[in-house]
Amino acid sequence: MPGATGSRPSIVSAVALGEEHLARLGGVVQVVDFARAGDTEISERLRDAEGLLVNSHVTADSHLLTHAPKLRALSTISVGFDHIDLAEASRRAITVTHTPVLSDAVADLTLGLILMVARRLREAVDVVAGGGWDDALLGHDLRDKTLLIVGLGRIGQEVARRALGFKMRVCAFDSRAELASIAGVERVPTLHDALRRADVISLHVDLNPATRLLLDDAAFATMKSSAFVINTSRGGVIDQGALTRALAQHRIAGAGLDVLECEPPEAGEPLLSMPNVVVLPHIGSATVETRAAMLDCAVDNLATCLRGETCPNALPPV
Ligand code: DGY
Repeated sequence: MPGATGSRPSIVSAVALGEEHLARLGGVVQVVDFARAGDTEISERLRDAEGLLVNSHVTADSHLLTHAPKLRALSTISVGFDHIDLAEASRRAITVTHTPVLSDAVADLTLGLILMVARRLREAVDVVAGGGWDDALLGHDLRDKTLLIVGLGRIGQEVARRALGFKMRVCAFDSRAELASIAGVERVPTLHDALRRADVISLHVDLNPATRLLLDDAAFATMKSSAFVINTSRGGVIDQGALTRALAQHRIAGAGLDVLECEPPEAGEPLLSMPNVVVLPHIGSATVETRAAMLDCAVDNLATCLRGETCPNALPPV
């Protein structure tokens, strides 16, 4: 039976938890498989829940939150929070927390994607796997190329530091004037002008109404035909149809994508068969160490909120 036992809060979790995490939470935890459970089961489980632990596969929209009238804290095991209706959560006085502990893992993968497309590593692997050998498969140096980082938050800053190590010229577009400057990184005032001169464009923004379809036909038309586009943020930041057209018509040189508008992609997705495109299955944070740190962080966030304390990883109410 769902419900609080004594002073122990009732918690619903989308993931199975080990003894140590259960002890840290100190509540009565029920695990729910949100992908399989029907509306009635979800509604029953959430009825008394004060805490909810989800990952980015669980859409915490207003419909789901309606089922949880006692919810006080919603902790997501992700840094992104576009799967959560923040406005509805704020209206219901639910504290939402996230896990900003994956910047290094995502930045490492971003550099991996830049190297893959600039040095044509996917094509090289395919040549050898197919029994061939081609030591004239020419790519491009990163040295002295201009990297435009769109979004200079935690992850964007880590990408900047790594790219400087590869001797790239780094510029960044971010509308937040208050961000600290990073030595060697030029802040650009407008995205449009920066897109025109960038050799590599890497996206590190949240998905929200202002960033949805940020790179559209007009943006691709502005880029150099030698430009590479890298996306490790959210698929919805790029108009995928516009990207596909730009690649097919050689208006840009290639793309490295860890995220897509639709994950997993539908059969026949044209981007998957383009030789100058690398698609990864959203593995930016997928290292043993980082995934463990994310779960730790999310459990601690939830425990902190349920104790009524201020959580440093709480998102500002909207
Ligand atoms: C994140 O944490 O937001 C990653 O993209 C996984 O969803």
